[in-house]
Amino acid sequence: MEAEAEADVGAAARLAERYSAINGEWEERLRSDVADRDRALFVAKVNEEVIGYSRLHRFVPAEGSPADSAPAGWYLGGLVVATEWRRRGAGEALTRARIAWVAERATEVWYYANAGNRASLALHAALGFEEVTREFTVVGVSFEGGVGVLCRAVLQGPSKVAPLGM
Ligand SMILES: CC(C)(COP(=O)(O)OP(=O)(O)OC[C@H]1O[C@@H](n2cnc3c(N)ncnc32)[C@H](O)[C@@H]1OP(=O)(O)O)[C@@H](O)C(=O)NCCC(=O)NCCS
Repeated sequence: MEAEAEADVGAAARLAERYSAINGEWEERLRSDVADRDRALFVAKVNEEVIGYSRLHRFVPAEGSPADSAPAGWYLGGLVVATEWRRRGAGEALTRARIAWVAERATEVWYYANAGNRASLALHAALGFEEVTREFTVVGVSFEGGVGVLCRAVLQGPSKVAPLGM
């Protein structure tokens, strides 16, 4: 990993430690997002300062998962913007970038959130996500208040169409 990327991962990990409900090992977790082909990490910067990050991963239900398991696919997850930088478009930019990344690889993209997270649901709805169900399971994931919303966006086809040679 290049020095700049290394520093960005560290800064994203500090944001995660500050805002995430999940404790510990953030630097290691985010470092593996960068190294793993089935995961990705994005950062938003203002004047070289990392003010937000977002993650995505390819999900495959574990063997023996319940029948209502969320389906296999690319999932956006782990979107955080520092409080003092919210409502200035960083969350949207981080989400647009991830959608574009997935669009190079698949025709749909998934995401889930707590039903009470109005900010997240509004942000994703504005970018084309539609609710699929509230009756689903992801092994190891629980939602505060007990209700999660599984959403999907259908992606357009290839963004690049090469002209035929003359
Ligand atoms: C959710 C979050 C990432 C949004 O980041 P942000 O940079 O403030 O979002 P943006 O400025 O790009 O907002 C884009 C749109 O999302 C919606 N939105 C964002 N924050 C909102 C809020 N507090 N209430 C309602 N809608 C909101 C709006 O539609 C907004 O567009 P507008 O500002 O033109 O009205 C941020 O609030 C955050 O880090 N929250 C804590 C972590 C979290 O809940 N992450 C999502 C987990 S699924």
